[in-house]
Amino acid sequence: MQQTTSYPLLKVQDLRVTFNTLGGKVSAVDGISFSLQRGQCLCIVGESGCGKSVTARSILRLVQSAHTEGRILFSPQGSESTIDLVTMDAKGREIQAIRGNDIAMIFQEPMTSLTPVYTVGEQIVETILRHQRISKAAAWERAVELLQLVGLPDSRRRVHDYPHQMSGGMRQRVMIAMALSCQPQILIADEPTTALDVTVQAQILRLLDRLRRELNMGLIMITHDLAVVSKMADEVLVMYLGQAVEQTPVRQFFENPRHPYSQGLLNSMVLPQTKPKQALIPIPGSVPNPLDRPTGCRFSNRCPAVHDRCQMPPPVVELPDNQKVACWLYTEGAASNAVSTNE
Ligand SMILES: Nc1ncnc2c1ncn2[C@@H]1O[C@H](COP(=O)(O)OP(=O)(O)O)[C@@H](O)[C@H]1O
Ligand SMILES: [Mg+2]
Repeated sequence: MQQTTSYPLLKVQDLRVTFNTLGGKVSAVDGISFSLQRGQCLCIVGESGCGKSVTARSILRLVQSAHTEGRILFSPQGSESTIDLVTMDAKGREIQAIRGNDIAMIFQEPMTSLTPVYTVGEQIVETILRHQRISKAAAWERAVELLQLVGLPDSRRRVHDYPHQMSGGMRQRVMIAMALSCQPQILIADEPTTALDVTVQAQILRLLDRLRRELNMGLIMITHDLAVVSKMADEVLVMYLGQAVEQTPVRQFFENPRHPYSQGLLNSMVLPQTKPKQALIPIPGSVPNPLDRPTGCRFSNRCPAVHDRCQMPPPVVELPDNQKVACWLYTEGAASNAVSTNE
């Protein structure tokens, strides 16, 4: 498949998502921007509560009861036009035609997408028939093919199983099959392997990687597991308290992480390149409550390199090798490269 337009498949600009809670306004996503090209895998990383899932779900306008601002520009294959998903009614027909069809999502827990009362075949067929004009018999045949594609053994028989008759790994494969049923251009996977054991996790990751290449899909993969990032990513977006602290090609992320938060994440986890007996250093403290976060740099109260200037929001600095970092450490000599602040 060739790219027919010069636009990226997806361009998110200054995305902001705010919830009204009893405790006050929670800005879960606060000015996130990124692009995704066809065939590319973007990994979004960060500790729990940093806004990764809200970012992913807002692309499909699945975040209920929130105020969403910014732009989410989708350029469908073969179309010269770009659609801004933010302007769509979250419950309207337009977004429903895109959801599950052009852009599909798989979740951490398969049972959030599978219902226990229908067989997996019935559920895949229903998704296919919702978006495609083909006969029921052809949709069943397609369901079996999809289950074969995701490596479900004996799929012609198992298509008639109920979700509870399957293992966690099999259910996750069914969910991937369902997500792929309409050949989406973008697949968003939110911690798709966290609930699985290591062997099954590796199989599912290999499967996603193969499908991305074969179908030339854009893949957005959300994870807090940096081993997953090293296997899958082309680009890495590091989120902290609703903001992007670093955005970088994957090689630079592992070889030369710039933001102290990225460095902290890498030092605190076992990675393929971690040497035996190498000490892991946890990041001190925990992600603050979003209603009570530090002013200025949001990482400042946990940062080993904290300085007086960190009471001001750091500018986003563009470094060589396509690395962008929001940190005062990189402003000297690079002041002219500062493009904006994170506030
Ligand atoms: N429906 C909601 N109402 C209020 N706050 C929410 C809601 N959903 C998420 N949040 C808040 O948004 C922040 C980001 O959440 P989330 O995107 O789930 O984080 P992550 O996926 O990185 O762990 C959290 O502080 C969370 O409490
Ligand atoms: Mg999440």
